[in-house]
Amino acid sequence: MLKNLIKSKKATVGIVGLGYVGLPIAIETAAKGFKTIGVDIDGDRVKKINRGVSFISDVESSNLKKLVRKRYIKATTDQRQLRHCDIIMICVPTPINENKEPDLEPVIKSAEWIKNTLRREQLIILKSTTYPETTEKVLLPILARSGLKVGHDFYLAFCPERIDPGNKRYGVVNTPVIIGGVTRKCTSIATFFYKQFVHHVHPVSSPRSAEMTKILENTFRNVNIALVNEFAQLCERMGGIDIWEVISAAQTKPFGFMPFFPGPGVGGHCIPIDPYYLSWKAREYDFHTVFIELSARINEDMPYFVVNKTIEALSQSGVCPNKAKVLLLGMAFKKDISDLRHSPALKVLEILEPRVALVKYHDPHVDELMLGKKRVKSVKFSRRELKKYDAVLILTDHSWYDYDLIVKNARLIVDTRNAVQDGPNTYKLGVGIQ
Ligand SMILES: NC(=O)c1ccc[n+]([C@@H]2O[C@H](COP(=O)([O-])OP(=O)(O)OC[C@H]3O[C@@H](n4cnc5c(N)ncnc54)[C@H](O)[C@@H]3O)[C@@H](O)[C@H]2O)c1
Repeated sequence: MLKNLIKSKKATVGIVGLGYVGLPIAIETAAKGFKTIGVDIDGDRVKKINRGVSFISDVESSNLKKLVRKRYIKATTDQRQLRHCDIIMICVPTPINENKEPDLEPVIKSAEWIKNTLRREQLIILKSTTYPETTEKVLLPILARSGLKVGHDFYLAFCPERIDPGNKRYGVVNTPVIIGGVTRKCTSIATFFYKQFVHHVHPVSSPRSAEMTKILENTFRNVNIALVNEFAQLCERMGGIDIWEVISAAQTKPFGFMPFFPGPGVGGHCIPIDPYYLSWKAREYDFHTVFIELSARINEDMPYFVVNKTIEALSQSGVCPNKAKVLLLGMAFKKDISDLRHSPALKVLEILEPRVALVKYHDPHVDELMLGKKRVKSVKFSRRELKKYDAVLILTDHSWYDYDLIVKNARLIVDTRNAVQDGPNTYKLGVGIQ
């Protein structure tokens, strides 16, 4: 029985996709004593993991190395190893294509692999974020081709991932987990498994509810960030109202208000992508998700807004924009991490580059990045470097930065994160140029 294997820690866990989601989970299951096999198509990642080298900032290499050495974690590109796993968690990407439609190819490919070696008493958990009905209408039909019956022979559940990279307070173990199994038994076994390594588990009645919960959470953030970005634009238009002061004042209300902050746009693999999964699915039901489309429009416009503000700030301070040198600070999509995926800072770089004489960047967590086909390296951060530019544009407010040094040495600052105090040479997003 699977429950007995789980209870005695004799169950082997398989993780398909060893990225920001898969690797931290592998660490926790291995640390709890489950032999854990990670399967990934990226041979370099697999080699790194087997050498105990982490590429995810939340995972310490020393911790990984210890678990690899004790043989609790092993990575491989050989999907046939999944036959040895009693529990398989799918943590592969769920991107969108150029038309902003869901691309479930990695999930489908993983399901095909699992189907090839599916056996009795295996529990399959989909963790990748996706639209409601994926588990039952995409994954289940593939697995059912094995001839085995869900809820009887094998178990299937959707458990959305809520990890927040860089968050020091909440990680895999203390973030509650939502579980929606295809049958009651599926939910019960998935819940039993999760309880071995997370503090709080919240079962729901179906995979569809669990899938919808995750998209609601991310859409909620997307919509609220868009709302505050619109307020920031209006404050600039009206002049004399500082959005940061307004948010901080609103925050004194002890109920009914939750602060969100403006910025150069939204980034990462989740917030800008997941709502599109839902709006695509909603069309099948003749339903238009107006909030999702509206907030995407506002958030995707922010990099353009920030570039226009920078050009205006340069002009106001007497620098001809097409002769200006600009330094961008912070390229990752949020503070204190290295993840560049869908970072609005990349968009700012792309739009600003043809409009000024020179753009360079610095990010303490990103040594180099690709601008189209061009490889661009981070400059050094120093007093001398700051003085070389006509403007310094703060895009991500990493804690690493010495903001006093920036204020003292930059000729002009455009601050999209409220990272520095107001000053004569500072132009803040959400505060009009007077
Ligand atoms: N990154 C986050 O903060 C976060 C948070 C919550 C949910 N999610 C969701 O979790 C899922 C995974 O995201 P991620 O950030 O870990 O992605 P990632 O790109 O960091 O990692 C995915 C891994 O899967 C591998 N992979 C791709 N196709 C594969 C296949 N067919 N078989 C095996 N491995 C394959 C890739 O090589 C990569 O190592 C996505 O659906 C994402 O939306 C991500």
